[in-house]
Amino acid sequence: MTSPDIDTQTLAGTERATEADATGTATGTAAGTEWWRTAVIYQIYPRSFADADGDGMGDLPGITHRLPALRELGVDAIWLSPFYTSPQRDAGYDVADYCDVDPRFGTLADFDLMQGAAHDLGIRVIVDLVPNHSSSDHRWFQAALAAAPGSEERGRYVFRDGRGDNGELPPNNWESVFGGLAWTRVTEADGAPGQWYLHLFDSTQPDFDWSNPWVREQFRDVLRFWLDRGVDGFRVDVAHGMVKADGLPDYTPAVEGGSMGGGSATLEPGISVEPPEPAPYWAQEGVHDIYRDWRLLLDEYPGDRILAAEAWVDPLARVAKWVRPDEMHQAFNFAYLETPWSAPALRSVIDDSLDAFSSVGAPSTWVLSNHDVVRHASRLALTAENLQGHGIGPKTVGLPDPVVGLRRARAASMLMLSLPGSSYIYQGEELGLPEVVDLPDSARQDPTWFRTNGERYGRDGCRVPIPWEAAAPSYGFGPTTASWLPQPAEWAALARDVQEGADGSTLELYKLALRLRREHALGLGAVDWLDGFGDEVVALRNGDVTVIANAGAAPVDLPDGDVLLASGPLDGRSLPGDTTVWLRA
Ligand code: GLC
Repeated sequence: MTSPDIDTQTLAGTERATEADATGTATGTAAGTEWWRTAVIYQIYPRSFADADGDGMGDLPGITHRLPALRELGVDAIWLSPFYTSPQRDAGYDVADYCDVDPRFGTLADFDLMQGAAHDLGIRVIVDLVPNHSSSDHRWFQAALAAAPGSEERGRYVFRDGRGDNGELPPNNWESVFGGLAWTRVTEADGAPGQWYLHLFDSTQPDFDWSNPWVREQFRDVLRFWLDRGVDGFRVDVAHGMVKADGLPDYTPAVEGGSMGGGSATLEPGISVEPPEPAPYWAQEGVHDIYRDWRLLLDEYPGDRILAAEAWVDPLARVAKWVRPDEMHQAFNFAYLETPWSAPALRSVIDDSLDAFSSVGAPSTWVLSNHDVVRHASRLALTAENLQGHGIGPKTVGLPDPVVGLRRARAASMLMLSLPGSSYIYQGEELGLPEVVDLPDSARQDPTWFRTNGERYGRDGCRVPIPWEAAAPSYGFGPTTASWLPQPAEWAALARDVQEGADGSTLELYKLALRLRREHALGLGAVDWLDGFGDEVVALRNGDVTVIANAGAAPVDLPDGDVLLASGPLDGRSLPGDTTVWLRA
């Protein structure tokens, strides 16, 4: 890999960082203007971002090397999926040591270098915290296995005796999000079959018992460890799942599962099912005490450090509970992510989001892709229902047309980036990457694939290492041809160096959008709906920018105003279908 050129871009970034620090106080910036209210946050999936040592797995030095490209893109912050010590049974969401870096990704010193380089570029750093469960390799769980039923060590996790005459039946009927039972039976020290432990995800991911004060104290220490190192915040994994209903009652979901706990990804508005009451393992009131406690802890630190909730909860009014003033700062807007490419559905979810989040004084967030869902350059062109978490593959019904998918994705992203609040970008979407639908079965690694005997493809298709340089081995992902998931040959044409400076490329479109978003302060703005463009069109004004997204097929006449940005070619003053335009109002 060639060495990055950090020159004037660095300077601009540094000025930005200094400005923020100068206005920050020990308790943070003046309420209402904190950076996270408007930030564009870029999700790095470390396994697949950049590989410095050439072993086929991305790493922290790789991230450091590629940070200038993110500065050029214009993002405010990065969120890193887990890079902690882990057997990688769920791609690092199975943590064996919360306070160390897995050797596959580097060392704590590499983390410090990466974070320092990001801060020098004016980019904040958010790390992932996985508090619902640890890896079964964690020393706490190993100690629990070695200890007797009823011991202090077992009390840190959710161990129960089984049902049936000999405890041979699981303690209740809960199912794992990844498929199969949510319980695994252990063998006791005397070799006899023994208790069962709960795992809402893979059997290598035992759930903690958050009613145990010991667990709470350990995680306070984990938060302090990373805050002391200088991180700007935490994305909190499964933030809706840590507390379970007393007595662990049986529960049968109304809709077939596969989602992280929310509704289903739907192709038509209104199909998404709102559960009357959350499941006994999701959205229990008790989780909020944990976040109030963490908020107090974060507030002890200077600067504006944040907590962002991954809470797959319906409806948005319920999600807003996670971001009440004394809890977290942001919650992912999965309702937006799950909205089909349909103007009425988009208008309604935007309204609902702004209402729900503003009712508690929080910014709305927006997101279209992440490491758990089908990339939106494919998802938005699916022609049959596809449940979140199931993924797509060769046998999927309704596979997307890639041309339609990319056109819609560009239009959808330009609508998202025009909205007030904070937006999340998932690595590779700025290149227009589609989901990889033809991974060989032998390459698949998602536990979902194994736990459902291949019935669900799972999430590997959105996790393929991203292309940087068309002519380099592994398209510049690393210095060798190694790549933990194979990259499609078509990705050469999508490599960052091909798109750099190329007229009309998706990369240049994102760069322009982020620059205009900043210049026109869209993040701090408001949505004023504009009428008169027809049912298939989302039209709004945010400050001095008019945004028109044509989600239909028929062209639409544009009003007056200079074109600031267009997601696809315009036909004079006519806006084709699946295209978004920003005009100077
Ligand atoms: C979250 C993560 C997902 C992971 C799961 C279990 O939903 O985003 O990737 O598999 O939690 O930790």
